[in-house]
Amino acid sequence: MPFSAGRILKLSSVENVSVSMPEIAGEERLILGGGSNLVILNPIFEGVVIRPEIKTWLSKIQGTQVLLEIGAGHLWHEVVISTLKKGWYGLENLALIPGWVGAAPFQNIGAYGVEFKDFCESVVLYDFDESAVVELNSDQMKFGYRHSILKDNPGRFMVLSVRLLLSTIPKPIVDYGAVQEGIAAFNGSKDRPEDVAKAVMAIRRTKLPDPEVFPNVGSFFKNPVVGQEVADRVSKSHPQIPSYLETGGVKLAAGWMIDQLGLKGFSVGQFGVHKDQALVLTHAGNGDADDLRTLIRTIRVAVKDEFGVSLQIEPTLLGRL
Ligand code: EPU
Repeated sequence: MPFSAGRILKLSSVENVSVSMPEIAGEERLILGGGSNLVILNPIFEGVVIRPEIKTWLSKIQGTQVLLEIGAGHLWHEVVISTLKKGWYGLENLALIPGWVGAAPFQNIGAYGVEFKDFCESVVLYDFDESAVVELNSDQMKFGYRHSILKDNPGRFMVLSVRLLLSTIPKPIVDYGAVQEGIAAFNGSKDRPEDVAKAVMAIRRTKLPDPEVFPNVGSFFKNPVVGQEVADRVSKSHPQIPSYLETGGVKLAAGWMIDQLGLKGFSVGQFGVHKDQALVLTHAGNGDADDLRTLIRTIRVAVKDEFGVSLQIEPTLLGRL
């Protein structure tokens, strides 16, 4: 749906930040990168939209370690490909994730056994509360499954750049069966990070709709992390449910649950559950936000009734649910 804002502020450098941020102190603000994980429920935003278009790229190689600082305005996938081409390894499983670098620490992006936090040394941020540029190390970022300190403090911080630690020695992570099968499909090698990235890209292209073609924000719900007791109860009544051990509990596959309820392809107005991946909701264009609200409610109620589990929304919402 068309989106209108009070004004837009483009930031191209960190120097720019120290000058322009105090000027907007007190105004309502929205930090907008690629927008690939943003759901706009209210298309009129009176405040200031900040676009951190910072494109710094600094690298330092020490032995086999590569310390890389990249600005928030780079496209994440381009960073993955550029580092691979240079022989700097680690990010290969995170290929083809849409969005800008600044969003990566926000929700600790993850796919196929790897999370952003695994390669993050620190994050450079603008702290609106302190009116200062600060650097938080990986521990201070409080990374978790699709979580960071930035989610605990909505609106307080803006990511300026991230510092990553990569390696010139390949250490591919191919725990996921789908990744192994993907590599085998083109006779690739599990030892080559380039082949891991190629397989991941192929899987994403088949499983996930291209947001440029079918607007979507990837997974719409988080996979719920529940205590062992709840996991045991759910797997007793639904023995086939895919589950994975996660810090703090057991992660249950939300896509599987929605799929089991027969909701794949179910739609309300212009919004629907993707026909191949039930965790993804798509928007066919010009939708009414109330239809999306109804779809979300329908899915959550059905999952709660059948599995006794609450689904949390993964993307950032602009406007009320
Ligand atoms: N499944 C079904 N039916 C479905 C969807 C999934 O049966 O319609 C089953 C699958 O067969 C599998 C399990 O559920 O056994 C998990 O599915 P999948 O491997 O596709 O992953 P996911 O849990 O749906 C998560 C991430 C994705 C990430 C993939 C791969 C979240 C919220 N989502 O999805 O991240 O790409 O794993 O690692 O954790 C995103 O965050 O936007 C995103 C796409």
